[in-house]
Amino acid sequence: MIYLDNAATTRKKPYSVYAAMLRYSLFMGGNAGRGGNGLSLGGINTILSAQESAAKLFGVADESNVIFTLNATYALNMAILGTLAPDDHIVVTAMDHNSVLRPAALHGNYSVAKADKSGFVSPGSVRKCIKPNTKLVVCTHVSNVCGTRQNVAEIARTAHKNGALFLLDASQSAGSMEVDMTKTGADMIACPGHKGLMGPMGTGILCIKEPERVRAIIVGGTGSESESVAQPDSMPEKFHSGTVNTPALAGLKKGIDFVLDTGVDAIGRHEHRLNTIFRDNLREMDGIKIYGRNDTGITAFNIGNIPSEDVAAMLGDNFIIRAGYHCAPLAHKALGTDNGGAVRVSPGYYNTVKDIEKITDAVYKIVKREI
Ligand code: ALA
Repeated sequence: MIYLDNAATTRKKPYSVYAAMLRYSLFMGGNAGRGGNGLSLGGINTILSAQESAAKLFGVADESNVIFTLNATYALNMAILGTLAPDDHIVVTAMDHNSVLRPAALHGNYSVAKADKSGFVSPGSVRKCIKPNTKLVVCTHVSNVCGTRQNVAEIARTAHKNGALFLLDASQSAGSMEVDMTKTGADMIACPGHKGLMGPMGTGILCIKEPERVRAIIVGGTGSESESVAQPDSMPEKFHSGTVNTPALAGLKKGIDFVLDTGVDAIGRHEHRLNTIFRDNLREMDGIKIYGRNDTGITAFNIGNIPSEDVAAMLGDNFIIRAGYHCAPLAHKALGTDNGGAVRVSPGYYNTVKDIEKITDAVYKIVKREI
């Protein structure tokens, strides 16, 4: 079995990630902030230590402004629904995932900036959507469908010029390219812990530059100010209601440290190289259509008129890839694949050129109708 679905999750993690979770579970395991005992304090230290690593990766000046969530979807919901008042307007883009589109639709007052056929959203198309009451602009850094990278710094400038905040969805870029709060101009950055950051599932990150501008939409016990029914304003407790998944954060910290030690450029370069080899191989076959730009480690394609999910079924469990609509219906519309979706192959740091050769051979057999 060859795993090539790193856009969905990185299946293999550095050994240090598994070891940290096991160590935490076996030898620690108190509830963070719920007591002054050593186990509870160990939980707090685990959170602090994961915050430090994440703050370093994302260039966040104050590590208490890094909060941990269940996944990127929760982080995006907390950022979007926590920022908007009922009369506020939000701009999202056609390349965004349903984790952005659905909270915007739930809010109701939203516009969608168009993308071109390559999946690129021009800053001008964002500008066209801005209204006097636009409070927030959201954009994905890299399309989860086709890998096209957006000019997010320019989109952030467009948002700021018009008095709006900018939320960067770094779900597909964190860990594979530089995602810096200052350089991107993001007011908030959301991402999962289990993709490029190599952490376990059930982890997500939200970095917030000015936490006072975001309401907590999930409130409850924080282990602090327990005498009051009001949600604390202190960070990160304001956004950490309920028991935090500290064993997973022990693992996530090690995943982020692996990324910091290896370097996002080295990881991104490797994934892009494999992606380039795969795209070049596909171009030599008849009847293959490739979508999007070769900016990262994601390739979306179709083989003639064969439905994308049939191609996935033919690859079976020998090659783990993802076909269909990838929870991003408007992106498929922009790419012209809204009638059947596309096959997505997304190599990760642990894949090799040999893996790419093997999937190339399998695709070639499908093209030749030998599978
Ligand atoms: N959003 C993830 C994907 O694109 C799960 O597959």
